[in-house]
Amino acid sequence: MARLSDDFISEIKYRNDLGELAASYMQLKRRGRNLVGLCPFHGEKTPSFNIYTENGSFYCFGCGVGGDVITFVMKIENLDYMEAVKYLAQRAGMALPEDDYDDSMNRLRTRIYEANREAARFFYSTLNSPQGAEGLQYLRSRALTDRTIRHFGLGFAPDERFALGNHLRSRGFTEAEMIAANLVFKSRSGNSVLDRFYNRVMFPIIDVRGNVIAFGGRIMTDQKPKYLNTSDTPVFNKSYNLFSLNNAKNSKEDSLILCEGYMDVIALNQAGFTNAVATLGTALTTDQATLMKRYCKEVILCYDADEAGQKATQRAIGILRNVGLAVRVISIPEGKDPDEFLRKYGSKGHAAFQNVLDGSGNDLDYQLSRLKSRFDMSASQGKLGYLNEAVKLLCTLDNPMERDIYASRLADETEVAKASIVEQINRGLRQKNRTRKREEFSKLQKDISARDDKVNPQHAANLRAATAEENLIAYLVHHPDRLSYIHERLREEDFATDFNRKLYAYFSRRILMNTDPTVTISADFTSDEQSKVYRIINSYEPAGASPKALDEYIGIILDEKQKPSEQEIRNSTPDEFTSMLSKLKEKRQ
Ligand code: CTP
Ligand code: MN
Repeated sequence: MARLSDDFISEIKYRNDLGELAASYMQLKRRGRNLVGLCPFHGEKTPSFNIYTENGSFYCFGCGVGGDVITFVMKIENLDYMEAVKYLAQRAGMALPEDDYDDSMNRLRTRIYEANREAARFFYSTLNSPQGAEGLQYLRSRALTDRTIRHFGLGFAPDERFALGNHLRSRGFTEAEMIAANLVFKSRSGNSVLDRFYNRVMFPIIDVRGNVIAFGGRIMTDQKPKYLNTSDTPVFNKSYNLFSLNNAKNSKEDSLILCEGYMDVIALNQAGFTNAVATLGTALTTDQATLMKRYCKEVILCYDADEAGQKATQRAIGILRNVGLAVRVISIPEGKDPDEFLRKYGSKGHAAFQNVLDGSGNDLDYQLSRLKSRFDMSASQGKLGYLNEAVKLLCTLDNPMERDIYASRLADETEVAKASIVEQINRGLRQKNRTRKREEFSKLQKDISARDDKVNPQHAANLRAATAEENLIAYLVHHPDRLSYIHERLREEDFATDFNRKLYAYFSRRILMNTDPTVTISADFTSDEQSKVYRIINSYEPAGASPKALDEYIGIILDEKQKPSEQEIRNSTPDEFTSMLSKLKEKRQ
């Protein structure tokens, strides 16, 4: 990536105060020098999201994500780095240095968007040509009107292996661009490129900004795979996007209907339900839930009625609630998917589906009714079993009023006194509270032992050294003037973990060059890495950072370096082991 100058990034950060910007997305409270609030990147009830006003960075102790104002905008607005910089520059009324913006990755992305758009045009015009007759016939057989076909830009990939490739080449696209867009791939011999999609009806996938980012293609027979989709490309990740969100975002509804399939969404649109979206051949992800939350408050789950669909429903309820969305669940009668259901009702589809919508319950109603079907409610044993499980469910409700309403309902249903149901619930809540505290504690311990440190996988095996390394790095960033003192005593080779060594080298280099050590972290590290970096920097305690502490960190790092590694011990012969032991003993004395 062509780099923006440090000065430019500094200016962007200076002119876009993180605290002020974040306050337009979330509630923040001042705590000492920091601001704290509920993390916008994961669902939580007690605030663990911190903004460090001193250095313009954030870190969430709940989900471990951190970064600077650029990272914040990238995550909350779902933008890439350059887009976020551009956004912030505009917000601050700054002009972007032109040639910097026009870097190679961005150029490729632009070319992929253009190739996709041209491919969509090609598929669409093929569908409406003699060559596409079979495709058109297929889509009509699925009760789609010409208007719907046009609205969704549906198309047809002809039964040839070079059609799209040749077309795109004639429009000036290079092979590399077509391959990057996943529209063609190299043949095994490597001599030619073949179309990825052929003899399929094509569904373009369009993002909220109107870019064609990918395709799904359906075969017109019972052959497998039924759908073929674009693999991940520089402009497309199937776990971050939703089919037809570009249409749904303009709907007046405050809810989104989430279905399983392309055809469900299209049929719902045709019947007037424009707020329908679908995942793209994968199970729902938290990223998709977060994306939906930007456009609605409530998601109506409308998965297939089969067992797989019901399992997926249970899972989705958890994910959606976790990002703070309200959930309702629809079950379509007779085990049909929305497309089949609507087709069955033909012109009365809208009214029929509206009826199902009106009859939908919230997620709890859904779960209670699933639960109830598992017990024999005519026997007291069955009732008791149902009650026990139902009480567990009610304990997941945060709203006391809601709990009370359902407790009354349960009492009526089972003819058990409400008071004793309420007592059960309260006992469950106390229990849950204890479990939560235990979990928080063990998570804290886990963090401390860094067993799940992906960024620095060597952390766990080198706990003492790695902790000292991190303290040293935090110290260095806050006291750049101590660089030469540290350098006289500690070399890069002395670091036990590669990641911390890389950080040490990185910050040293920047300090030597007389630049702000932290200003371009968001450009130079991956998202996971920078979360970790900001955690290290921000866990700096002025009180624990005396010159004496610095000497201690250096001492520990050097001391640990003398010790044989776990690996060395494991691989040693008995003789080597004995000699290692005696060397260690010598050192102690
Ligand atoms: N899917 C996929 N690849 C497959 C099968 C399914 O990507 N090989 C995705 C598609 O997005 C599809 C959705 O999963 O729309 C649901 O699959 P399924 O229920 O099997 O198909 P329907 O959506 O009912 O498709 P159709 O009505 O065209 O048969
Ligand atoms: Mn279907």
